[in-house]
Amino acid sequence: MCGIVGFTSESMQAAPVLLQGLAKLEYRGYDSAGLAVRDGSQDPVVVRAKGRLQVLEEKTNGGLSLPGSCGIGHTRWATHGEPSERNAHPHISEDLNVIGVHNGIIENFSELKEKLQRHDYHFYSETDTEVAIKLVDYYYKKYKVGPIDALAKSMVRIRGSYALAVMFRDFPGEIYVARKDSPMIVGVSSAGTFVASDVPAILQYTRSVYYMENLEMARLTPEQVTFYDLNGDVVEKETTQIEWDAESAEKGGYEHFMMKEIHEQPKAIQDTMNSVLSAEGRIDLSATGLTDEIVRDVSEITIVACGSAWHVGMAAQYVFEDLTRIPVRVELASEFRYRKPILKPDGLVIVISQSGETADSLAALREAKKLGVRTLGVINVLGSSIAREADHVFYTLAGPEIAVATTKAYSAQLIAMDLLAMHFAHVRGLLDDDALAAMIAELQSLPSKVEQLIENKERIQWFASKFSNARDVFFIGRGLDYAICLEGSLKMKEISYIHSEAYAAGELKHGTISLIEDGVLVIGVMTQNELYEKTVSNLVEVRSRGGYLAGITSYGHYEAEDTVQFTVYVPKTDPHFYATLAVVPLQLLGYYLAVARGLDVDKPRNLAKSVTVE
Ligand code: G6P
Repeated sequence: MCGIVGFTSESMQAAPVLLQGLAKLEYRGYDSAGLAVRDGSQDPVVVRAKGRLQVLEEKTNGGLSLPGSCGIGHTRWATHGEPSERNAHPHISEDLNVIGVHNGIIENFSELKEKLQRHDYHFYSETDTEVAIKLVDYYYKKYKVGPIDALAKSMVRIRGSYALAVMFRDFPGEIYVARKDSPMIVGVSSAGTFVASDVPAILQYTRSVYYMENLEMARLTPEQVTFYDLNGDVVEKETTQIEWDAESAEKGGYEHFMMKEIHEQPKAIQDTMNSVLSAEGRIDLSATGLTDEIVRDVSEITIVACGSAWHVGMAAQYVFEDLTRIPVRVELASEFRYRKPILKPDGLVIVISQSGETADSLAALREAKKLGVRTLGVINVLGSSIAREADHVFYTLAGPEIAVATTKAYSAQLIAMDLLAMHFAHVRGLLDDDALAAMIAELQSLPSKVEQLIENKERIQWFASKFSNARDVFFIGRGLDYAICLEGSLKMKEISYIHSEAYAAGELKHGTISLIEDGVLVIGVMTQNELYEKTVSNLVEVRSRGGYLAGITSYGHYEAEDTVQFTVYVPKTDPHFYATLAVVPLQLLGYYLAVARGLDVDKPRNLAKSVTVE
């Protein structure tokens, strides 16, 4: 998410360097941008702009109209507060004492904001960043300490993730940096020193970088960089020489954005969860405006979406119905809008969309609103059309996704729907406090389980190399496993161009089984214990017709190997959460097949990331 660049030098003008750096981070996606530049000990000048970086460039004549050799810049992807000039970074304390840019999410920002308001701080934006900057200002003044101590005191109070680059009025020519769970690097060159959220921003100036560790801080002057730990003690660090070219640097060293985004899934899941889990471990949906009364009154749920978001809906249907006993119907947005839908006035329509701009999903939302039914958007892009028009919004925090084939946004959507289902069940008295707490604890174990699955990717790569010439592949499963199959099959066909189909396992024999012949790959997803044997029986039917079988199941089901020739085990979890785990090997399979076939993984032919026409 977001991009940070900072630069301080003896004599080189900072603003053009910052703009060039931000341009290199454009690929990450953003909705606004800003700069703060300081000329000697004069007050910093702040310029912000909504929309493309080009607007900021025009406002500052490519940076030339901003004199000064020390500055910070930022491209923002909105998480708190709509995309607007007011919410764009840098953010400032009222007297310009502290000015800064931030990446990440401050989870306890409302609590900190209230504290600061009690001390007469006022807020002009809706961002968590403004809170962080004013918190630093508060500690700086209260304890009359230096920048490093003020930052350290703030870091102890802030919960969440951050990469912060800050300038203090009393310290011209210096930039201060703090980091936790959000990447930050520091670069050194003969021209000056740099800070950035990502290597490409500074690659044209230097290849000598320091990687900041969690809870580290840094002080940059034009000549040198000093690192500190949370106690304020100096930390010695080694520089790393970046060997990558600019293109692979954008991908964080991964060969493709899709692989980078697969690796970002644990974070996407964690961030989405953290955004609604209170410090006491409860689900708090107050930000969505869904009160307990509303939740109690819902008589039916219609989930509407397109593509992978529709697959999330298919998975969520099983989870919702099982936990809440509310009837759920899942519809393709393109069908729903023309079907003259019959909806109950006390129903709820949930529109799931990463972009919040998909034409059919938007039209479906408008159709539901026209019928007077309450709507909830599960959306990744803040301020997008669906987010603005829906009655309620639950934001997934996957950050910008670049590869056309979705991975981390899909995973974040699944988690959002799990949390909604759990909350509905709890409010409606179907899940008691202890059962909810146990499910939340299990949910919190998912990021590390996903990580574990990604770590074992080489095995999937090996398997993909065996089947790179496959012509047809079938995915079969029952219940939630069927929903997982839908996504696994789409991942495969959209990027590897191998024809594949997902079938409810029991349905295969009603026609499709005639397509099975010697060597055709059939992948059985078998994470649901109560359906396990049924799917195994369907696999046996396939094997007796010559199919080659692969299976995905949970650890413990080792007898699967008596039936299938290649087995992938996923860690055990609550049965409702298996989609989050089982989808990972399927994403990897699609990815490695596409790579093995030499295809353009990130931009498959004929596809668009956001489909804004019907
Ligand atoms: C496109 C993308 C899919 C996505 C679908 C819905 O087809 O390639 O990955 O699932 O649109 O997009 P949305 O932004 O509404 O989630």
